[in-house]
Amino acid sequence: MTMTKTAVAATFGVLLGIGLAKAEPLQIEVAKTASCGCCSAWVDHLQANGFEAIAHDVSHQQLNDIKARLDIDPVLTSCHTAMVDGYFIEGHVHADEIRSLLAEEPEARGLTVPGMPIGSPGMEMGDQRDAYETLLVLEDGDTEIFEAHHHDARIR
Ligand code: CU
Ligand code: CU
Repeated sequence: MTMTKTAVAATFGVLLGIGLAKAEPLQIEVAKTASCGCCSAWVDHLQANGFEAIAHDVSHQQLNDIKARLDIDPVLTSCHTAMVDGYFIEGHVHADEIRSLLAEEPEARGLTVPGMPIGSPGMEMGDQRDAYETLLVLEDGDTEIFEAHHHDARIR
């Protein structure tokens, strides 16, 4: 199943009951559960990096529904789902990568950092760094590496 960016955005907007207008500073809508500490830390990361992050606390069921309606493969999911300019942003994606996505405007559905790797934005634990990849999810659901993060790399 493929979804266009517009269809993805419309689906997300309908699910959250919001309009998705383009505005400055860049608005990003975030669906998360109220009890998720790392989600709040990621929202803070976005705010600190020039985004106007609008967080919506939803139930686990609603959050799962959003991921399903956006057709995000379960193996690619994380703790929160966001939407910016027609792209979904799943999990602890760095603000700089979101900016790159918006600048490059690839034919794709969104970005994801599956799971919750230690050292990603909002998942800081001292000096610990998991190696992980930020993936670009293409229109057909395939993924390609958007950015690789190594153990010894600085957080970004
Ligand atoms: Cu998390
Ligand atoms: Cu989260």
